[in-house]
Amino acid sequence: MNVLVLTGAGISAESGIPTFRGADGLWEGHRVEQVASPQGFDADPVLVHRFYNLRRRKLQDPSIQPNAAHVALADFERGHQSGDFLLVTQNIDNLHQRAGSKRVLPMHGELMKVRCIDTGELFDWTDDLSLETPHPADPDNAKLRGRLRPHVVWFGEVPLGLESIERAARKADVFLAIGTSGLVYPAAGIVSQTPVHCRRIEINLDDTPASGAFDETIRGRASEEVPRVLASL
Ligand code: OAD
Repeated sequence: MNVLVLTGAGISAESGIPTFRGADGLWEGHRVEQVASPQGFDADPVLVHRFYNLRRRKLQDPSIQPNAAHVALADFERGHQSGDFLLVTQNIDNLHQRAGSKRVLPMHGELMKVRCIDTGELFDWTDDLSLETPHPADPDNAKLRGRLRPHVVWFGEVPLGLESIERAARKADVFLAIGTSGLVYPAAGIVSQTPVHCRRIEINLDDTPASGAFDETIRGRASEEVPRVLASL
């Protein structure tokens, strides 16, 4: 049984990270283009750095921990011997990895990594970023200061790992979409790449525009429904 899982902001909501489109949405009053597009970064890099610095700090707050849904996915992967498993997440938090998941593909990037604008080189990152941040590869080189950006996929940029995702979708026997609004492509289109025989399950608090593409739609909190559904597979 090949299992493909797609998670969105809803799986981390119960860990204390607001979703994007909820009332207290993560964009925090900014227009999406201001803080999540290459044009926004060019126009006001200080604002964009501040936005992601706050989120990076919050993610490291001891109160933010994986919840029962993250843990159940990691446990399931550990025990899954009979076929492939891939966990595709749109989340840039690291809660799946911290829960112990191994085969995680963060298609929208990772908050705890930064990338050199010039070379694309990645660095693990826990601190703030600014226009003065020295380049870890050459800290004394003044010309390289401020050449790092969040390793986050912005609108207009291509998500990561699309070929691997499509390959996993084409051979999935079970596809589980958890806590995602089904509004942002290409993630929202993964369900339509799964084969006819695939069992497609959506777990969400509410109906989504993608619900009609699923065989089973389960309404409830991820922390309760994910462990239950995984135990039944
Ligand atoms: P959204 O904020 O769009 O949607 C979150 C979904 O989770 C909603 O459908 C909620 O009903 C559901 N939800 C909330 N709490 C839940 C809970 N406790 N249990 C189950 N479901 C719950 O977040 P995403 O779908 O992840 O992209 O958003 C997709 C992408 O849009 C993000 O990755 C981000 C954003 O623009 C980029 O930044 C590139």
